[in-house]
Amino acid sequence: MTDMPPLAQMAEAVLRTADGRGKTALSRRYAAQWQAARARGETPEIGSATPPDRPARPDRPALLDPRDVPRRRPGSPQGRRAILHAVAHIELNAVDLHWDIVARFTDVPMPIGFYDDWVKSADEESKHFNLICDVLDRMDCPYGTLPAHAGMWRAAEDTRDDLMGRLAVVPMVLEARGLDVTPGMIEIFERAQRDEPAAAQAVEAMRVIYAEEVHHVAYGSKWFHFLCGRHDTDPRDAFHDLVRRYFHGALKPPFNEEKRAEAGLPPDFYWPLAE
Ligand SMILES: [Fe+2]
Ligand SMILES: [Fe+2]
Repeated sequence: MTDMPPLAQMAEAVLRTADGRGKTALSRRYAAQWQAARARGETPEIGSATPPDRPARPDRPALLDPRDVPRRRPGSPQGRRAILHAVAHIELNAVDLHWDIVARFTDVPMPIGFYDDWVKSADEESKHFNLICDVLDRMDCPYGTLPAHAGMWRAAEDTRDDLMGRLAVVPMVLEARGLDVTPGMIEIFERAQRDEPAAAQAVEAMRVIYAEEVHHVAYGSKWFHFLCGRHDTDPRDAFHDLVRRYFHGALKPPFNEEKRAEAGLPPDFYWPLAE
């Protein structure tokens, strides 16, 4: 026995923590407690919670409409700082997205492995945020210095009542998109690392992110297929329907077909949705 709160309540507490480093510290502590209990063979309580409509966020960065966020030129140190700042913002959002899926859908009975997967993902996103923030600190541009995109929570709000929609749009579209664009970002920092020591640290951080994000997409695909099996629906058709309903816009090629395959996303899932 442990004195750990039910998992859904731990998730809600992370969502209600505003400070970035504070949020990731709590997230990692709860994930460690959960994983220790699971390693002892326990089946801890999931419980239920009332996750906030939007997660708590720090006062800075200022959140701007994507059209008002200045363009980033990767060839300059300022441009590279802006890219990393945007990545940190995405990672912090991802921490909340994974805890939100834990807290929001407890009325849908799921095997405990569902929770194991998202707790592990949330822990990894927390590590990603910290790694990128370490680089930003070294570049004298701590998270919050630059403006960031508003509207990152849109996908979560649109799918707040639909677990299959959430799985389709968040891990299987948004996180899969990360697999497409991360190799190009790694190259930008590889080119810069001779002149800028912090860029080498950015390369290492992004390699960790790239390796671990494949699993988040795979967890999405795994549990999406599980629910399709439960409802006796065709996964590909269901995926197309849900993405068209909840995701605003077409998917952007080129796709990282190899990593997408590794994550359980076959081409006939995403190509028909491409622009
Ligand atoms: Fe991440
Ligand atoms: Fe992720």
